[in-house]
Amino acid sequence: MTDSTAASISPPDIRWGDVRMATSGRLARALTAEDLRLMARRRLPRPIFDYVDGGGENEFTLGRNSAAFDRIGFRPRTVADIAGRSQSTAYFGRASAAPFAIGPMGGLGLLCPDADIVLARVAARAGIPFVLATGASASIERVAEAAPDGRRWFQLYVFSDADLNRRLLQRAASAGFEALVVTTDTQIAPKRLRDLRNGFAMPMRLTPRNIVDFAARPGWLWRIGRKSGTGLMGNLAAEIGGTPTAAETFDFFRAGRSRSVGWEDLKPIRDVWRGPMLLKGIVTAEEAVLAAELGVDGIVVSNHGGRNLDGTMATIEALPQVVAAVGDRLTVFLDSGIRRGSDVVKALALGAKGTLIGRPIAFALAAAGEAGVEHVLAMLHDEVDRVHGLLGCPRLDRIDPSFLWRDDRPARP
Ligand code: GLV
Repeated sequence: MTDSTAASISPPDIRWGDVRMATSGRLARALTAEDLRLMARRRLPRPIFDYVDGGGENEFTLGRNSAAFDRIGFRPRTVADIAGRSQSTAYFGRASAAPFAIGPMGGLGLLCPDADIVLARVAARAGIPFVLATGASASIERVAEAAPDGRRWFQLYVFSDADLNRRLLQRAASAGFEALVVTTDTQIAPKRLRDLRNGFAMPMRLTPRNIVDFAARPGWLWRIGRKSGTGLMGNLAAEIGGTPTAAETFDFFRAGRSRSVGWEDLKPIRDVWRGPMLLKGIVTAEEAVLAAELGVDGIVVSNHGGRNLDGTMATIEALPQVVAAVGDRLTVFLDSGIRRGSDVVKALALGAKGTLIGRPIAFALAAAGEAGVEHVLAMLHDEVDRVHGLLGCPRLDRIDPSFLWRDDRPARP
């Protein structure tokens, strides 16, 4: 052992471009995304924590997403020239400083003031894309103003009103949003047992059922809960006009969403959007082929973080068939269940070109706001780099399944 005791107990000074992990204070003790999750749990009222943490029905898919990553092992090359390794990549002709982006999440204003603005700013500093959700708290325009140089993508939930879809796309295009991510897996409201049991509603309401849960987090009530705009969906407020309440924006969202979206409904969206377009929620080869025929540029293999149809296969299990079907034509991303850099590397080895990260970012926001988001991004970047180097893979953009080991196979070459 050559490490001094002092060196081995002080937090690592991990920097990545303009973002870094905290080296002192409470945040420095968070060494994993799971640590941030536990910090967020201590700060959030239970219904809000559960809304982020939970999944559909019995949460089989939620658990399966992560368990499936754990069943994949690595086959490292230990003698390899890894000195020049880099995880920079490019999506749709523009650089990304890492093979992950911040995925779309609505309602983040319940976790942190100005959540979407914080995410857009930190993503811009890190040099990775940020996907703003239709149901985001901050509007397209505010986010563009806050991070004019960042790579910003817009996630669309399809509304029944075609003019509304068009207006949202026009707003996103005018504000310099580069790519469009259309979610395909949430036409029907999912049954989330934790939310039902907690009396969770969007926007949040204090009810006899949840008043104890909220009273247990006075810090949250002071910082977030007492503010009148908490839960407002900024993109939709602009469509309603005037100064709608959070409840009005949510009712508009719920009432306006199309509950059945077929391939014909996606065509006008493809026609209007001139930039790269991705479909998010596809997990089968058949649908991936239809997506390619529609003329999209990419897909996100996603089961919505296990939040919707419970019983769906894990996305890392679904990925190989999608890559085999369209990997040469479309840019394939993966989300759902990524908690560590090693998960990102496994997705790349199975043919994804990138990943979207959701809950680890949400928990980092709730745990420590902007510093928390910097912390988790620098941590993920460091973890990817470490795995990349230890795997002995000189080029991450050329990694292939030969670097993986399936634990369910006998341990022979
Ligand atoms: C919305 O998309 C959610 O997953 O809650």
